[in-house]
Amino acid sequence: MSRGAMNPSALMRFARLVALVLCTSASMSAIAQIEKEFSDKADLAPDIVRSGSYFLTESTRQLQNDSFANPGLLWVDRGKALFEDDTGAASCRSCHENELTGVFARFPAYDAKLKKLLNIEGRINQCRTQRQALPPLAYESNALLSLTAYVASQSRDTPFNVSVKDKAKEHFDRGREYFFTRRGQLNLACTQCHDDNWGRMLRGDRISQGHSNAYPGYRLEWQSFGSLHRRFVDCDTGVRANPFEPGSPTYVELELYLAWRSATLPIESPGVRR
Ligand code: HEC
Ligand code: HEC
Repeated sequence: MSRGAMNPSALMRFARLVALVLCTSASMSAIAQIEKEFSDKADLAPDIVRSGSYFLTESTRQLQNDSFANPGLLWVDRGKALFEDDTGAASCRSCHENELTGVFARFPAYDAKLKKLLNIEGRINQCRTQRQALPPLAYESNALLSLTAYVASQSRDTPFNVSVKDKAKEHFDRGREYFFTRRGQLNLACTQCHDDNWGRMLRGDRISQGHSNAYPGYRLEWQSFGSLHRRFVDCDTGVRANPFEPGSPTYVELELYLAWRSATLPIESPGVRR
């Protein structure tokens, strides 16, 4: 170890101290509880899988299920308009008549030609650049969120059906590893909140099982529509870790693990969350 560097246990004590100063006493005791119950690397058992909507209040759940009032439907409508827009070499619609039903549920997927794991956002940008001769859309831009929401809406009510075999396997393994790795000044892994402590309160939120089936979706706390990766950024920031960029390969791998983990749940995108 280099001179002046803290040894791991001193670093841990320092991190705890920082956490103590930064957190209110109420959320601190919640975090102490979470810390106590670190389990092994066991995946959530399929028979206890619950959607995030299960943890919502009745009024938020109703908002999601209301086919007029759900605010996310605005993005679906914008996506449909973009799908038909023929500014580029060809509109999306001209190549994809109606056959995108169920496609979102198969993503992220390994693309053999590109030798890359792609989520739907990545796939859409491939078609933009390769087939429409248009520049890629920025992650989290309204246009990419809208197109993604439109494609996702065509898989609503069907469960994820991703492949985690062959070339997808190593990506899946890395995504799963991310979920079980402690990080940030609070030194917490995703699994500690979303496998071991779902149902508990944390800073005014009821912790869900952290499933991906609502996204892209509308969060009341954002007052806007956002991607699953934006939620990853929130959770990584919540434990005071440096988040990755939305759209980064690491988050796409994490997305693959989550799609597999919530495979028995129907897709709810555009979901509505607190
Ligand atoms: C010129 C034709 C063309 C255009 C325009 C086009 N695509 Fe594609 N798209 C394809 C082809 C061909 C594939 C199959 C994969 C490949 O070879 O790239 C595909 C694949 C896809 C897939 C994955 C389908 C699957 O079953 O895995 C999605 C999603 C998609 N496109 C969405 C879009 C969207 C959204 C747009 C508009 C932004 C668009 N595409 C524009 C030709 C096109
Ligand atoms: C300190 C506890 C904590 C940790 C650690 C944590 N989260 Fe969360 N997460 C929350 C809370 C609180 C929410 C908001 C309430 C809810 O939906 O669970 C949330 C929400 C989510 C959601 C949205 C669920 C939905 O239905 O809208 C996802 C997905 C998610 N987390 C994934 C992750 C991932 C992946 C990690 C690890 C990178 C992680 N979380 C780490 C506390 C945590």
